[in-house]
Amino acid sequence: MRRRVESLLPQLVALRHDLHRHPELGFAERRTQGVVLEWLERHGYRPRRCADTGVVADLRDGEPAVLAIRADLDALPMQEETDLPYRSTHDGVAHKCGHDGHTAIGLGVAALLAEERGTLPGNVRLLFQPAEEGVRGGGARVMVAEGALDGVAEVYGLHNWPGFPKGEVRVAAGPVMAQVDSVSLVLRGVGGHGSQPQHCRDPIVAGAQVITAAQTVVSRHLSALESGVVSFGSFHAGRANNVIPGRAELLGSIRSLSPTTRQRIHDGLRQVVEGVAAGMGVHAELRIDSEYPVLRNDVGCAEAVGDAARALGVAVADAGLPLLASEDFAYFAQARPSAYFFLGAGSPVGTTPGCHHPDFDFDDDLLSLGVSMFLTIAELRLAAQR
Ligand code: NI
Repeated sequence: MRRRVESLLPQLVALRHDLHRHPELGFAERRTQGVVLEWLERHGYRPRRCADTGVVADLRDGEPAVLAIRADLDALPMQEETDLPYRSTHDGVAHKCGHDGHTAIGLGVAALLAEERGTLPGNVRLLFQPAEEGVRGGGARVMVAEGALDGVAEVYGLHNWPGFPKGEVRVAAGPVMAQVDSVSLVLRGVGGHGSQPQHCRDPIVAGAQVITAAQTVVSRHLSALESGVVSFGSFHAGRANNVIPGRAELLGSIRSLSPTTRQRIHDGLRQVVEGVAAGMGVHAELRIDSEYPVLRNDVGCAEAVGDAARALGVAVADAGLPLLASEDFAYFAQARPSAYFFLGAGSPVGTTPGCHHPDFDFDDDLLSLGVSMFLTIAELRLAAQR
């Protein structure tokens, strides 16, 4: 297998760089979808569109799928700040999470599976999923709703991860990524002249108090053995240096690994917001919206990932898991037994830019590992079902 993967690598690197040069946001992956469709057709698939800009393809049409392999397609609303020869040509959009690499891996798997279409003892489905990133995301949920998993027994997915040592596989049974909820807080006070705070109800000072007090939600409302995060990523108010504005808006996120912890964080944050608002005479509107659920790996599927890594002679561990980041692969994992694993992409000295960092770029060295992992998982699962 190694030789087959190696011989395909130059094409996969070229594909990856082409996708990197033309990044597209969630549910706008039109060109990317075209590249995927064209490649799959060239390798004898009859791919179909799903979730608008996604693609589903079966190795052998009309058969139930022993497993599905998922790759995500979308880029981030970030500016490319590298001077790579294949840097993004789309202003304000860039592949800063490595989904270009994930897509290239999925296409590599598709090409190599196609060489064994007639001899493999079962069907494999390929899922190219749009819109993994952000509030507009949830492409996995749409794909599930549109029947992308009909006839599928198990689902596997991966993510490159610069926080783990390069070339290692990380996987665990149970939760591997967190539930994420978005927080929106609007504080309405009374605006006025900056020289006369006594006539105002200052929403900026109230917002600052909320942020400070919110730091106690995890540290004082949760047991030290529970995991959770409350982070604010946006605080907007006012436009002038000498005007106290009437309104402030804060946006944040909550991460948790269990429903009880999640409820405790919600209750704690509500208490903080209500207390600060009452104490400072401002009106608070707090909204907490559920985004992605906890991503929970099936025990048997996680074992299959470990077995595949060992078969390839690749180091595999569960250290560092779960991560408190989130992934909409969780919707696939809610619908079918699944496993999501990580390909370490970090340098030993820990200086590799992480996902979503402006200097991040997918490491092409991982293409061969990603393709080999998926192919080996497919071989193991197809052999096990006979
Ligand atoms: Ni990602």
